[in-house]
Amino acid sequence: MEDMITIAMPKGRIFEEAAELLRQAGFQLPPEFEDSRKLIIDVEKERFRFILAKPMDVPTYVEHGVADLGIAGKDVMLEEERDVYELLDLKISQCYLAVAGLPNTKMNDVAPKVATKYPNVAARYFREQGEQVEIIKLNGSIELAPLIGLSDRIVDIVSTGRTLVENGLVEYERIIDITSRLIVNPVSYRMKDERVNELVERLAEVIQSKVIES
Ligand code: PRP
Repeated sequence: MEDMITIAMPKGRIFEEAAELLRQAGFQLPPEFEDSRKLIIDVEKERFRFILAKPMDVPTYVEHGVADLGIAGKDVMLEEERDVYELLDLKISQCYLAVAGLPNTKMNDVAPKVATKYPNVAARYFREQGEQVEIIKLNGSIELAPLIGLSDRIVDIVSTGRTLVENGLVEYERIIDITSRLIVNPVSYRMKDERVNELVERLAEVIQSKVIES
């Protein structure tokens, strides 16, 4: 057990792509891996312990050292600013952060409101643009906010763009491209460098071969 590496995985849409990447790198994960409701999954053969966390919480587990490694979106990294190292751009779950709202609408001159799951990223962005806005933190279904008059704009993830289109919203500005990253706790990186580096090398090889293919 003491040689185990603990990896915090984000539950939800990144999970399957991340599992697939690990399999492509030659790690043998059990077939029921993706369907399990368990929050801790030990894969003894590979000496991996996976913990399944909410995506936004992955850097917290890694920062506190209860997970050695984690897989987190760049969006989450920018929002949380945790004390962890980013080891690798996994180039999965590609999407971007954007400012969106109802078409042909200006931001309210007095106290414009921006709804988002990313209050730190949004506040930083509008500060850099020299715009003063009130940030309204929501936990999901962000696109609702401008539709029902809670906010003038939203800052949210755009992946296929379907959610914006189907709700009659348009994109105003693209903030930053997002992919998932492999992150590590700084102490784990020192103490378990051999195993961490092996994992990084195997993943990097798969990522590189995909880049060449495309
Ligand atoms: C995310 C994001 C958008 C949507 C974008 O929400 O917040 O709402 O996906 O994807 P699309 O461009 O492919 O339509 P998610 O489904 O994670 O749920 P949430 O509303 O609970 O945040």
